[in-house]
This record gives sequence, C-alpha cells and structure tokens, in this order.
Amino acid sequence: MAPVSLGAPVVTVSKRLDQCGRPGFSLAMRRITAVSMGMFVCAVAGCIKGAPENDLAVTEVAEVLVTPEVLHMGRTAYRKYCVQCHGYSGKGDGTSATAFDPPPRDYTDAEVMNAITDLTIAETIRFGGIDRGFPNMPAFPHVNHDELVALVAYVRSLSRPGLASVQIGTVE
Ligand code: HEC
Repeated sequence: MAPVSLGAPVVTVSKRLDQCGRPGFSLAMRRITAVSMGMFVCAVAGCIKGAPENDLAVTEVAEVLVTPEVLHMGRTAYRKYCVQCHGYSGKGDGTSATAFDPPPRDYTDAEVMNAITDLTIAETIRFGGIDRGFPNMPAFPHVNHDELVALVAYVRSLSRPGLASVQIGTVE
C-alpha cells in the first residue's frame, strides 16, 4: 500500500507542554525533541513533578492535519484492531464489550472524549490502558506511527465531526 502522507506538522506545542505554562513557546520550530525540550520546559515552568513518567516516550510533538486519507487509514486500522471491543460506531458496543469492567465507553460522546488529549489517546493505544486503570485495554506496540496518528484522528472524529487536526507526537 502506498504510504499515506500525514501532511507537514504545523504547530509544535503539545497540550502537555502547554500545561507546563509555556504556550506558544516553539512556534519557530518545526519539530521538538520532547525528551529534552519537554523536560526543559517543565523545569523552567517548575512543574516537572506533575509530568507523567511516560513523557519520556514522546520524542516529537506536532499538529497533524486530518485529511480524508488519514481518516480512511484510521478507520481501516480501527476495524482491524479495535472494533470487537469498541464497536463499529465507537459507542463501546463491540461483541466482546460486555466482558470488561469498566466496559469501553461511548467515544461518540464529546463529554467523555474532551476529557482526554490526543496525546493521551495515542499513548493509551501504544502502551495499553494498564497505567491509566484500564487493564483490559490492550497495548498496540506494532502499529506504525502513521497508523497510530490515523487511529487517534479517527477515534477523535467520532465525537468531533469535521475534525481538522490532531496534536500528537512520535510515541515510541
Ligand atoms: C480487548 C478489548 C479492547 C480492544 C481490542 C481495544 N480496546 Fe480500547 N479500551 C478497552 C477498555 C475495556 C477500555 C477502558 C474503558 C474505557 O475507557 O472506555 C479501553 C480504553 C480505551 C481508550 C481510553 C479512553 C479514556 O477514557 O481514556 C482509548 C482511547 C481506546 N481504548 C482506544 C482503542 C483503540 C483505538 C483500539 C484499537 C487500536 C482499542 N482501544 C482496542 C478495550 C479494548
């Protein structure tokens, strides 16, 4: 399959870095190495204590435009990996959903989804839900980065029709 272009990163400050109190810090930079930069920003802002441990896994932060190709890629991956639990609609009504406590929630509900950032969605997919108290949410270490971004875009689009972009980094 031809690689899907996710488009050039546009803006470079993730929500997590924003929470450290330095919004707009890096508009001049196309890409940020969050391992060093994130710690630097957090240290400068004095909030390193609040930084989740797996910040170290994020090596870049960027905003990716959500094109129809990105959504198509995300939908395909979602149907392959996620549908049995989260359901075709994302409402948490997959065929295995009733086996879990807590069961998958309704990802078409903006109130549920607005509580988490794009980066958190990406990390939950990449590393699984175990650190966040959802042991039944498996990790997907094998999805490649483009697929991961596309999955985040697709999941987010379920509660935000017309979604224009996602703010995400390279999650390894
Ligand atoms: C074996 C069943 C299962 C599979 C497969 C699965 N999930 Fe989950 N997932 C869960 C459960 C259970 C939870 C915890 C309840 C919740 O938050 O909805 C969860 C949680 C999540 C969350 C966290 C929501 C939050 O509130 O923080 C996201 C995002 C998510 N899943 C996305 C996905 C995506 C995308 C895929 C496919 C790549 C996937 N899941 C595959 C069962 C599954």
